[in-house]
Amino acid sequence: MPTPQLMPEHEASLIGRVTDVTGSRLIATLRHDDQGHNPVVRLGMEELTVGQLGSNVAIRAKGVMLLAQVIRMWEEEKEVRVTLSDNANTGSRRTVGFRRLELLPLGEIAKDGRFTRGVNRFPATGAEVHLVSAKQLEALFDRYRSQGLDMGRLSSRPELRVYLDANALFGRHLAIVGQSGAGKSWTVASLLQRTVKTMPDSHIILLDLHGEYGWRDEAGKLHSAFPEHMVRHLDARELEIPYWLLTFAELVDLLIDRTEPNASVQMAFLREAVFSLRKKANLDLGLDRLSVDSPVFFSIKELYLQFKKANDQQLEFGKAKGPLNGLFDEFLVRFQSMFNDSRYDFLFRPQKRNDSDQLEDLLRDFVGLSEPRRQITVIDLSSIPADVRPLVSAQIGRLAFEFNYWNPRRHEFPILLVCEEAHQYIPRDDDQHYAGTRKAMERIAKEGRKYGVGLCVVSQRPTELSETVLSQCANFLCMRITNPDDQAYIRRLMPEGEQDLADVLASLRRGEALVVGEAAPLPTRFQIYAPDPPPASHDAPLSKSWRQGPKDLDVRGIVERWWRQER
Ligand SMILES: Nc1ncnc2c1ncn2[C@@H]1O[C@H](COP(=O)(O)OP(=O)(O)OP(=O)(O)O)[C@@H](O)[C@H]1O
Ligand SMILES: [Mg+2]
Repeated sequence: MPTPQLMPEHEASLIGRVTDVTGSRLIATLRHDDQGHNPVVRLGMEELTVGQLGSNVAIRAKGVMLLAQVIRMWEEEKEVRVTLSDNANTGSRRTVGFRRLELLPLGEIAKDGRFTRGVNRFPATGAEVHLVSAKQLEALFDRYRSQGLDMGRLSSRPELRVYLDANALFGRHLAIVGQSGAGKSWTVASLLQRTVKTMPDSHIILLDLHGEYGWRDEAGKLHSAFPEHMVRHLDARELEIPYWLLTFAELVDLLIDRTEPNASVQMAFLREAVFSLRKKANLDLGLDRLSVDSPVFFSIKELYLQFKKANDQQLEFGKAKGPLNGLFDEFLVRFQSMFNDSRYDFLFRPQKRNDSDQLEDLLRDFVGLSEPRRQITVIDLSSIPADVRPLVSAQIGRLAFEFNYWNPRRHEFPILLVCEEAHQYIPRDDDQHYAGTRKAMERIAKEGRKYGVGLCVVSQRPTELSETVLSQCANFLCMRITNPDDQAYIRRLMPEGEQDLADVLASLRRGEALVVGEAAPLPTRFQIYAPDPPPASHDAPLSKSWRQGPKDLDVRGIVERWWRQER
């Protein structure tokens, strides 16, 4: 079917003319007649409001047709000389109001109706400004319809569906940002539900920090934000991501305090010790290329003993101290206390994952290839201590990446990793704390595309999130943001020429988003469909609970849970 031309159908669509061209903006002056301005124009069956913020207009000049978005509308008064035709005193002056629009050109419309982003030729003053009919706009989204990812409805025209291009959205990384309560988690749920529905062979790993996407009620029944046939819920603690999978840099993150005076000696010793232990424990695997980072088993107890031995070493029958004597005191104390803390058992004392062969099973669990096979694997991190969440998340990210890196059929098996609350474990580049773990995610951001690993980062604090990761995202779903610093930050991340659109961020409603980037034909403000089922809502109405809440609670039960670390 030929694309319908995006030419205004008849002159009723003409609403004004371009009167000012500056840099990347156009100012249009709206037409008016004796009765003043006509705020509503009828185009075929449609009634369109002239100059509505966020709506699109077409700018037509000789040889150029642009699509632009209205970003501001205001009124100016001008004094004009009264002419003879007026009944009033000739020669006197009267003020006339002009309505102006500030327009942001988004791209050009070719003769065949195809839209391309960016503007090469700007129109001159006098160019006509036209309203765009629903049919014409629909033609723009048509190109994406075949992908079938129908995500919501255009805010300015709720009758129009917004389709996103799944290839660009997941292949070129996506960031979902917005303040708390803006609707990010609902968007994630809606997006993934629709993705699996249209692409039943998808492979998605979702890092769930608060148990929002799967939770148990008082009777122990599991509830999920996804239909049962799509999802597998794994508790990070039961999944067991053992210490021996950590790379050297991650072990440093876990065991060494980089601010300690002899941190570098500890690191050097750790490197040697881990390397030799990995080699020793895996002689039977016959691997001649083992490195300090290889994902193979080593004994953590032996590692401890090596440190302890060096720390206690005495020479000449106790007359002199060994070269490392006493240098590992703090290290050993920290190591001990972590090792003896039962909350870290999933990491240090794996029950099932205690030899190298367990890696296969673990990878199967991750990518949804163990039984029952599911498209979405939700990994619930809420049961593990907050201080190791970054480490475990990075592990998951790294394993997903390594899986496809070594997978010869990676292009037939693209994986999407969705990171909720990403700022908690993919911190800014200047944050020393999680240097090793951040690297894992940054690697996906930088190289994931080549190996079929897509990243979707979700955050309410974009300013605390790694810039490297954010700058690699080619798509943004920006939800409501009222904080001016966050707004300014998002604005800078947006593509050149489209940054002014960030002004709408403060006025978005719940579940409404501005999509910017390659996955949408044009930057679009739209209302995202509510997911069905929705994620756990922590929006319990306080006033209701405070009016008629429980009179007593099972405090003993709370204490027991806390003791047992079971929620
Ligand atoms: N698409 C939508 N349609 C209708 N209501 C929505 C939509 N998205 C969100 N909401 C409403 O907004 C509430 C908050 O949404 P959500 O939990 O997704 O916010 P969030 O951005 O993830 O917040 P936080 O950063 O605190 O996790 C929901 O409980 C729901 O009532
Ligand atoms: Mg959320």
